[in-house]
Amino acid sequence: MAKEIDYGANGSYEAAVERSKKLEADISANPKRYRVLTGDRPTGRLHIGHYFGSLQNRVRLSKLGIPTMILIADYQVLTDHDAFQEIEQNTKQLVIDYLAAGIVPGEDVIIYPHSYVPECNQLLLPFLTLVSNAELSRNPTVKEEISSAGLKTVNEGMYTYPVHQACDILFCKGNVVPVGKDQLPHLELTRTIARRFNEKYSPKNPVFPEPQALLSKTPSILGLDGSQKMSKSRGNAIMLSASEDETAALIKKAKTDAERNITYDPVNRPEVANLLMLISLCTKEDPSEIASRIGTGGGGALKNMLSEVLNEELRPLRAERKRLEADPAYIKSVLEDGIRRAREIAIKTLDEVRTVMNMRI
Ligand code: TRP
Repeated sequence: MAKEIDYGANGSYEAAVERSKKLEADISANPKRYRVLTGDRPTGRLHIGHYFGSLQNRVRLSKLGIPTMILIADYQVLTDHDAFQEIEQNTKQLVIDYLAAGIVPGEDVIIYPHSYVPECNQLLLPFLTLVSNAELSRNPTVKEEISSAGLKTVNEGMYTYPVHQACDILFCKGNVVPVGKDQLPHLELTRTIARRFNEKYSPKNPVFPEPQALLSKTPSILGLDGSQKMSKSRGNAIMLSASEDETAALIKKAKTDAERNITYDPVNRPEVANLLMLISLCTKEDPSEIASRIGTGGGGALKNMLSEVLNEELRPLRAERKRLEADPAYIKSVLEDGIRRAREIAIKTLDEVRTVMNMRI
């Protein structure tokens, strides 16, 4: 992560946290005033970091009755991945992970790949004219992604994907975007685009809302190496689709430290603290209390406890996963239904856009 992040005209990270708290309270009180837009790139199956960090929150928000769009960002994969062969499989696996975690698709919960919504993608052309090259080149998240992917050449899809992301959010007039810190610059750009569009084309009657960030409350989950964020490509993840034995074997190999007495000390003992945090996410107990219960049981007892509670937590999800994997026709129908509903929304928005831009014939 780049050191100083420019959170834009909207102020500091602390201010974003404050706004997010207020938003959270209002969402619970007035769920129908909001529409949540969230999404993932189909680069692989989801792991427990996604489960605790975002999936559980999406399930919670949709159960509050907030209309929710879950987008599968298949075009976005092409910005920094050469491999496209697996997009179809990964898309279907994502849907399986969502449903198994408790997302219930229907009128108010819409799952769709953005490549299937031409009217959403068509917003990219007018939106690109509302931002400057300099603005896109200084996006800290994009810069970080370019350097960490070690790309030799950077395609323009990479610099412009935050604008495409603005299309994803604005085509459905999404006004709540659950995000991690790294996505804040993108959301800030979306707000800028909405504001500039409205000022230029529809000053009296704004077409687009300025969406707000809902920041994740779950602390960032480290991989089993205890040093970096959990991610499949770093080989430090436990996939939701792993078996119970695979899960236990991965946890057995997780890094801990030489100190036998287990304590919760995220600064000095990040590996142990991460395992305690994972237990705590499953059992809802305080991590320090879990630590004192394990005491001098050491790393072995800590890992056994994690394997047990994590496998228990994921057992219903994994059973549902198996059932869904055996029903590809249903998965396809969920996507078809989602695409149909997303397009209905997109067609309406594009129609309004045409009108205010004086592009009717
Ligand atoms: N950039 C997001 C990710 O890498 C995926 C994404 C695409 C997204 N479009 C979005 C997220 C719009 C939120 C809103 O996971």
